[in-house]
Amino acid sequence: MNNGIISFSSDQENISSAELLPQDKDSDILSLRPKSFKEYVGQKDTVETLNIAIQAAKMRKEPLEHILLHGPPGLGKTTISHIIANEINKGLTITSGPALEKGGDLIGMLTSLGTGDIFFIDEIHRIPKLVEEFLYPAMEDYAVDFVFDKGINARSYRYKLKQFVLIGATTRVGLLSSPLRDRFGIFRTLDFYSVKDLITIVKRSALILKVEIDDKGANELAKRSRGTPRIANRLLKRVRDYSQVKFDGKITKIIVDAALALEGIDSVGLTVLDRNYLNTIIDFYKGGPVGIEAIAATLQEETDTLVDVVEPYLLKIGMIIRTSSGRKVPVKAYDHLKIEF
Ligand SMILES: Nc1ncnc2c1ncn2[C@@H]1O[C@H](COP(=O)(O)OP(=O)(O)O)[C@@H](O)[C@H]1O
Ligand SMILES: [Mg+2]
Repeated sequence: MNNGIISFSSDQENISSAELLPQDKDSDILSLRPKSFKEYVGQKDTVETLNIAIQAAKMRKEPLEHILLHGPPGLGKTTISHIIANEINKGLTITSGPALEKGGDLIGMLTSLGTGDIFFIDEIHRIPKLVEEFLYPAMEDYAVDFVFDKGINARSYRYKLKQFVLIGATTRVGLLSSPLRDRFGIFRTLDFYSVKDLITIVKRSALILKVEIDDKGANELAKRSRGTPRIANRLLKRVRDYSQVKFDGKITKIIVDAALALEGIDSVGLTVLDRNYLNTIIDFYKGGPVGIEAIAATLQEETDTLVDVVEPYLLKIGMIIRTSSGRKVPVKAYDHLKIEF
């Protein structure tokens, strides 16, 4: 091993990353997205909060409150916004923070929304500050303020909007300004899924994809999915392909083990990037504490990828610890990597 850094192909990096990839737009994968809360597995508290809010709004014949969904990628935020639009039978307009470059981009979308329609902004923490300021009156008073001319000639004109519902999704709620955060009536954080919930998701997806999987196979796949439905579905498809080419198309634990070894995914679901991250801290920084910027520079990865995609699950399973002086690798991770502490 050279410095503990293993090189990896971009393909390996991809398959078990929770980030949205082009392959997630395949019709196969899209067919797996739950269309109602009945089909939506887990996240019981969030689902109940949202169901109650939907029922109450229906009874009062009022639009829903604005909703902020927080959590790592692949846990079901976009899915929830589709489900809500379905359940209240309203239109859904989708955009993302980085796509809203100018105030005009946002105003154009807001003015075309109908009463009760859902306006979904993904990665809402990445909205430019100037654009964000148009959102405040839009969310609070259902209005946008246009300003004409400058200086003493400046006139402002208020344009009334229909009562729309904003759903914001973010992987990093800490980056949201407080005026924006405070304008959401409902705020929920999605957590990683239990193995039990992931088994349910894997079996449901297998049924839709018409692939046979036994209990041990489903259990193994669930255990290695980093608590993330998006990864579970992607791995299921990959293992199905493997079984079709090398075996008879059925999925068993032995086949999951063999297919995932090929992808560089280990017994607890850690990816090559996860292990490189841990090895970097161990080899270059004596196990830490070390700042995230230093880790990113050594790994030649974007800090955002490490913070949004890699670290949340490692923190969740106790393979990394965050202290005031930086990241530290605990004994548990040394044991897992079979490195002496
Ligand atoms: N609760 C769930 N039950 C079943 N499948 C889910 C659930 N949440 C997410 N998924 C699956 O995972 C995929 C990724 O979810 P998505 O909503 O796109 O995540 P996010 O927007 O949080 O990144 C979905 O397409 C869906 O197939
Ligand atoms: Mg999403």
